[in-house]
Amino acid sequence: MSDAIKVGLLGCGTVGTGILRILSENRADIVARLGADIEVVKILVRDLDKARDPAVPEGLLTTNPGDVLAAGPDVLVEVLGGYEPARTLLLAGLEAGCHIVTANKALLARHGAEIFRAADVAAKDVIFEASVGGGIPIIRTLREGLAADRIDSIHAIINGTSNYMLTGMSQRAASYADVLGEAQARGYAEADPTMDVGGFDAAQKLSILISVSFGVDIPFDEITTEGIDRLTPQDFAFARQFGYAVKPLAVAKAHLPKDPTAADAKIEIEARVAPHLIPLDAMLAHTNGVFNAVRVHSHALGPVLFYGQGAGMMPTAAAVVSDIIEVGRNIQRGTSGRLPHLAFHKELVRPMGLRPSAESECPFYLRFTVRDEPGVIAQLSTLLGAHGISIRRMVQDQSEPGKPVPVVLLTHLAREGSVKAALAGIDGLPFVTSPTCYLRVEDIH
Ligand code: NAP
Ligand code: HSE
Repeated sequence: MSDAIKVGLLGCGTVGTGILRILSENRADIVARLGADIEVVKILVRDLDKARDPAVPEGLLTTNPGDVLAAGPDVLVEVLGGYEPARTLLLAGLEAGCHIVTANKALLARHGAEIFRAADVAAKDVIFEASVGGGIPIIRTLREGLAADRIDSIHAIINGTSNYMLTGMSQRAASYADVLGEAQARGYAEADPTMDVGGFDAAQKLSILISVSFGVDIPFDEITTEGIDRLTPQDFAFARQFGYAVKPLAVAKAHLPKDPTAADAKIEIEARVAPHLIPLDAMLAHTNGVFNAVRVHSHALGPVLFYGQGAGMMPTAAAVVSDIIEVGRNIQRGTSGRLPHLAFHKELVRPMGLRPSAESECPFYLRFTVRDEPGVIAQLSTLLGAHGISIRRMVQDQSEPGKPVPVVLLTHLAREGSVKAALAGIDGLPFVTSPTCYLRVEDIH
């Protein structure tokens, strides 16, 4: 047996506790795979008096970050969450000669460049499988398994909380507040759940997926991000009537330049996070509850789907422990830095940038709330037509006399900028009683 791989654990909440449980429950398999033990040498927490799981060795807990580095870990495993003190501790760890494993997508999406630079200087690994898709091995797959192929698009359900909530609202007619409370109680939600329901957690993850898929850094706060809070029960019902499910989707597509020989030719990345309509028979439409799924379409392979639990103690911890094993193997073989952190040698990547969202094109679902009176449909379609938007299907719900009614339609392919301009005009019409709800449609299978 090789020497034990020593781990300094930063954080012992949902994921940290799961890591300790997996190291104990799966020890025999881990040792057989790694050829060595994984030994946790110190654990940083905020509150020493908190009740802990029996898997947590109380004697290793400390509130002093210095104690963790003083214990001489080979690997710092960061499951604190947030930006600070995580950033400072990881930079200090790299300087002290530690490799890094983190589940913290927020940290990587904001400070990844700085951390990866420091890791290059220190010639250490930074591995982050659990930062996207919880237990699904998607980062390793994109970095290694698909290394030969050109990625065309990603359609992903990568926020377990939002998916859990939309599934509950759609299947059990549960209220928004109830399903959010359930997701929090199960440990899926971020400390600030607006990160989940507002789409920001998924945007951070999408920014990481874009980096390892296309080789370009798109800051998460430049990605169009829309939350799930504007959906109503009737949107699920209308979508179903049209043959669609409503899912919280993160989308990224690479558009090759029309004229690759032009001096300013560059690949444009279309990226957004929002609730979308997808066909009821699409595999992603059957991704329910806290499950995540990432559909990758690449040039040679075509579509491939990765499905599994995207949050929660044990699935997430399993991904973190796999990263520790990868670092351990690199330490044993002297192969640290074998892969570029984000899969590409940046200086060799073709020119790329973010496509302005107004230029994106897809079909749209539009739900107008209008007074039921003569000429309404004619005016709606005239305004849409004036912006080049063509209607594919339309339904009007039966009205209760005197009450506003929903008029719902699906468009053909439409430019996002045109749809927004048309809605700005329509929402100012006297018979429109509430702002129009729009959702994008992705006809994937
Ligand atoms: P959590 O349950 O809130 O645990 C955070 C841990 O960090 C706690 O042990 C806390 O100490 C400790 N901590 C926080 N701030 C600290 C500070 N300033 N000094 C010392 N200790 C501090 O969080 P989590 O759900 O395990 O998530 C951890 C990370 O994994 C996050 O980056 C999250 O985004 C990511 N992640 C989570 C999941 C999931 O399903 N939960 C899935 C994928 C990725 P105390 O125990 O004393 O409070
Ligand atoms: N809050 C996140 C989610 C945890 O719901 O997906 C996993 O990153």
